[in-house]
Amino acid sequence: MEENIKLMQNQLSLQLQQISNSKEFFELQAKYLGKSGEITGLMKELGKVSKEERPALGKLINSFKVWAENEFSYELKKIGKKELEEKYKSEKIDISMPSKSQKVGSLHPITLIKKEMIEIFEGLGFSMFEGPEIESDYYNFTALNVPKDHPARDMQDTFFINAEMLLRTQTSPGQIRVMEQRKPPIKVMVPGKVFRSDDDATHSPMFHQMEGLVVDKGLTVCDLYGVLDNLAKALFDKNTKTRLRPSFFPFTEPSVEVDVQCFNCSGAGCKLCKNTGWIEVLGGGMVHPNVLKNGGIDPEIYTGLALGVGMDRIAMLKYGIPNIKLLFENDIRLLKQFK
Ligand code: DAH
Repeated sequence: MEENIKLMQNQLSLQLQQISNSKEFFELQAKYLGKSGEITGLMKELGKVSKEERPALGKLINSFKVWAENEFSYELKKIGKKELEEKYKSEKIDISMPSKSQKVGSLHPITLIKKEMIEIFEGLGFSMFEGPEIESDYYNFTALNVPKDHPARDMQDTFFINAEMLLRTQTSPGQIRVMEQRKPPIKVMVPGKVFRSDDDATHSPMFHQMEGLVVDKGLTVCDLYGVLDNLAKALFDKNTKTRLRPSFFPFTEPSVEVDVQCFNCSGAGCKLCKNTGWIEVLGGGMVHPNVLKNGGIDPEIYTGLALGVGMDRIAMLKYGIPNIKLLFENDIRLLKQFK
């Protein structure tokens, strides 16, 4: 039996060295120290040996058992550590790897122009006002010196909702709404969507305007020119040349259109400026006395200047966008260029 124990110990020693994972460990532990394991079996066999041999043999089996228990607990620690290291290794992340890039959107060109114009006007001391997109005939036309059946209504193809209500064709009704609510001096801009039954490469049924209105005592065309020139230079380039051309709007007298010297050919003439050297960018004028009156302001005391800018047109010019529809198709290839 002594021999047997020695053999068993050697065998166990070898087997312990060959263990490579905890599953094998627990199997081996059960094989030797389990209820019906080898060492437990030795204890049971002890009953069969003679009384004389029993104490020495019992001691031997016991010390073998203690040895085995120590070996197993040592091995368990080793296996545990090894498996933890393997787990860490397999879960290791490389923090120097480039991350998956988050897709970030960009501001729409119209939004960019709107923000830019607000900044320019705010720099000149203007505040913001927003009027309704569904407007009455009165604010959109009559109060702006365009009575019913006046031929000037033909300048703007209107979406009527009924005889009295319509989708505003311009941001100019904001002028009347502001004058009704505020006392001069007034310096305000009115950005917003406007609507006209018009549809080609440079016209869209919905587009965007920014209105400007100043009401104060003693304003002249020089003030008007100052604001318009400032705006054009801020929008395009500080060296941009501007010119005023006489024009007609029912709500201003005199009325002007502002041209900037073509930034594509510097005035020499090209496709963009249709060989004129100049590009029309916005309209303006001195507020018509009737309009001041309709806004509740005495034209004998106060004067006004106003301007209206098509923000879509400015975006197209500034960013070289050939067709206004591109602004409303939400094509990611166009939008991506404005990051
Ligand atoms: N409302 C005009 C339009 O849509 C633009 C405009 C021109 C506005 C002259 C003005 C102005 O305030 O003074 O065509």
